[in-house]
Amino acid sequence: MTTPLLDIDNLQVAFDTRAGTVQALRGVTLSVAAGETLAIVGESGSGKSVTAQAVMGLIDVPGRIAGGAIRWRGAPLAGRSARKVWGKDIAMVFQNPMTSLNPLMTIGEQIAETVRLHLGLPRAAARDRAAELLSAVGISGARRRLDQYPHEFSGGMRQRVMIAMAIACEPKLLIADEPTTALDVTIQAQILELLSGLQESLGLSIILITHDLGIVAGLCHRVAVMYAGQIIETGPVDDIFERPAHPYTQGLIRSTPRLDVPEDRLTAIEGTPPGLLHPPEGCAFRARCPIAIDACALPQRLQPWGAGTVACCRAGEPAWRAA
Ligand SMILES: Nc1ncnc2c1ncn2[C@@H]1O[C@H](COP(=O)(O)OP(=O)(O)O)[C@@H](O)[C@H]1O
Ligand SMILES: [Mg+2]
Repeated sequence: MTTPLLDIDNLQVAFDTRAGTVQALRGVTLSVAAGETLAIVGESGSGKSVTAQAVMGLIDVPGRIAGGAIRWRGAPLAGRSARKVWGKDIAMVFQNPMTSLNPLMTIGEQIAETVRLHLGLPRAAARDRAAELLSAVGISGARRRLDQYPHEFSGGMRQRVMIAMAIACEPKLLIADEPTTALDVTIQAQILELLSGLQESLGLSIILITHDLGIVAGLCHRVAVMYAGQIIETGPVDDIFERPAHPYTQGLIRSTPRLDVPEDRLTAIEGTPPGLLHPPEGCAFRARCPIAIDACALPQRLQPWGAGTVACCRAGEPAWRAA
């Protein structure tokens, strides 16, 4: 096997709050290969963003990395070597493009600044590169657009600008954290198509973070499902949709709108995830799981399962009867 680009090994992240220690990540293990698109899915609060922040070196007080390792091409990401990697090899796109753009600077100035900072290009060349990047993310009339301000761009266009800035330094890995959540469905599809196109043309690896399993099918090769600060299942996208092994994944798919399933057949998973101040020892899903047994009170480790992995002693058992 070739060394994965990114390799996260038993990562633990804690936040020390006045109420106690929030165990946000409780042993996250996953890897991303070159050219691969990996989706991280899970309910709100499951630890998707904290995982991305840890990779980007953005965990700050009251948060801390409490254990585990993050490796880039096999080398631990820590200290100064990590800074280099974050600036150049790994880039990130956030959910809300309006808060990430400076309303007082033109789009061109902002992209050119990124380009100058990272590639050390002189002013005129940076502007040329900015126009090139705008075209690359599907913005027509790029030259003219450079002199406009963020408020003159629609939400979808602003997200395109954020993607342009993220790919400016030709990263190997792009992490997109809920990049389309603030956008309407049509624009959402366009942005996903753009990411898919860039993935092919630039040979990018992508981590797509989303709470919406419905958007991963066309874009992602592999899916990692998070629950209460842990990865509970990983697998090729087709396997996850056709043969989900973990009861939680089965529930997620049952509650995801699809073209071939009438809306009234959708069923949400009842209950809520456990709090992370005092997470349970065993399977965190067991209180909501219809097929839980005594053994579920023991810690569940990720085990090989088909072409992926699953952390469940009842893996593969149908948890819900067909509606
Ligand atoms: N700055 C913080 N202080 C305390 N807890 C935090 C902080 N940031 C995140 N958390 C906790 O970490 C957990 C995971 O959060 P997050 O990764 O943002 O979830 P997701 O992105 O999957 O919705 C949540 O329980 C959240 O409350
Ligand atoms: Mg999040």
